[in-house]
Amino acid sequence: MIDLPFSFTIPLPAVIPSRIDNHIKRTLSALKGQFLDEPAFNKMLLEEDKLIYEVYEIKRPEVEGELLMGISIVHPGKVGNEFFMTKGHFHSVIETSEIYYTLKGEGYMVMETPEGETSVEPLSPGKVLYVPPRWAHRSVCTSRQEDLVTFFAYPGNAGHDYGTIEKTGFRKLVVDGEKGPEIIDNPRIN
Ligand code: F6R
Ligand code: ZN
Repeated sequence: MIDLPFSFTIPLPAVIPSRIDNHIKRTLSALKGQFLDEPAFNKMLLEEDKLIYEVYEIKRPEVEGELLMGISIVHPGKVGNEFFMTKGHFHSVIETSEIYYTLKGEGYMVMETPEGETSVEPLSPGKVLYVPPRWAHRSVCTSRQEDLVTFFAYPGNAGHDYGTIEKTGFRKLVVDGEKGPEIIDNPRIN
């Protein structure tokens, strides 16, 4: 049977979609090993397993030809001097891409390929970011008070490979420097 077209709204400035099929909440513990300052991470975790980011998903069949859509919300904050961020991933079907449209807040999309190419693109309201096939991606919120909110869409068959990134982390990190957000090399990668 053929699916019928459907619509939903993302009311601004609230940005919570009118249709939600799944709500993912990731807390600090889910990001273990990713922040550079481990003592700061452990101290923070002892105090509270804080909510770092959330995803509202619109479910569709996870097959080629479909598009998976949703809203990603990274809350403001830092671990040590590193801004809150998503875990980040390659798509399991690596030749799949993704579109992000920023609705609210400021931040960066940190990206890299398996071959070691890197790209860190600023995100701000109204900006459309295209993540081409093969690029791992992680969103980072650099707003001090506001959430970083993005709408995303990607192929239904993409899947997520978190393991590759979990091993060493991304090659680039976004930290709070003397003059504001700075992009630095990840010292854990030579
Ligand atoms: C899907 C995608 C986004 C992220 C979301 C949370 O392919 O890139 O929907 O899933 O921003 O980030 P992760 O999945 O890295 O925890
Ligand atoms: Zn993705």
